Amino acid sequence: MKETGGQRNIDGYTRVCGLIGNPVEHTMSPAIHNTLTAALGENLVYVPFRVPEGRVREAVEGAYALNLLGVNVTVPYKSQVIPFLKEIDPLAERIGAVNTLVRTEGGFRGYNTDMPGLYRAMCRDGIRIEDGQVLILGAGGAARAVAMLLAEKGARRVVILNRTADKAEGLAEEVNRGAGRELARGLALEEHEKLPRGEAYLAIQATNVGMFPGVQDAVIEDAEFYRKIHTGYDLIFNPARTRFMSLVEENGGRAFNGLKMLLYQGIIAYELWTGARVGPELSEVAYVRMKRAMGI
Ligand code: ATR
Repeated sequence: MKETGGQRNIDGYTRVCGLIGNPVEHTMSPAIHNTLTAALGENLVYVPFRVPEGRVREAVEGAYALNLLGVNVTVPYKSQVIPFLKEIDPLAERIGAVNTLVRTEGGFRGYNTDMPGLYRAMCRDGIRIEDGQVLILGAGGAARAVAMLLAEKGARRVVILNRTADKAEGLAEEVNRGAGRELARGLALEEHEKLPRGEAYLAIQATNVGMFPGVQDAVIEDAEFYRKIHTGYDLIFNPARTRFMSLVEENGGRAFNGLKMLLYQGIIAYELWTGARVGPELSEVAYVRMKRAMGI
């Protein structure tokens, strides 16, 4: 597709992808997908669709009927879309959340690209999960997804720390059942003191504590905890530098935010829809555009 004066040439062959959620007005996904489309010369547009509560089924069936090539799904519909899919990818099924629908014969197949997105972001940042010791902060939906990813990628040991210890233990049991080995254990946040000194962990911050506007907060403040962390990965991207990241860095670790995960979940969705492979250079162009759209 050519771009003329910023205007796309939409014609009878233009394919449509979109985002369903509520709200969708603040999404950065159009910046990612429309950048990839322009660079790869695909005849495709990506548009947000705000779907009111209770209309998810109509949205999924309507998107299929309108011949949409693919759909992203955001809050609050990532679990609600599942009953209306023709198929679901096994990782998405284990996570229990779908953020990407891919058109197939007779219906959409659902994927979760958030976790593969996190994985690709980590690989690009030189962080290894395989055989690593990993801490997860949180035991909600995002933490659960991270735990499933860690099990799939062969982490050696996973410790789930959560304000509500029961939830951490429940998630650890579920991970262990799925993995068929004693991979994970759950602890209350204050039990972080039980982690042996001299061990070095990758810590993934998967709570919503520290997110704008509560930017001064972190679930754990104790420097002793942060001294055990060689790398801290916060899934939060607003602010771009969270209190958790500052604490990691102040205690000698490397810290990353969730912006690259956001980028790569989009890139992997785009690859699923179009069959294109987006290399590091184009990923960087899309990253710059995405950040510009966010005003950072
Ligand atoms: P998400 O889908 O984003 O993961 P969620 O499922 O509501 O959201 O999970 C939120 C996570 O943040 C939980 O682990 C929650 O801890 P609890 O299970 O104890 O509720 C954690 N969380 C939220 N507010 C918190 C706070 N003020 N202090 C510590 N943990 C908090």
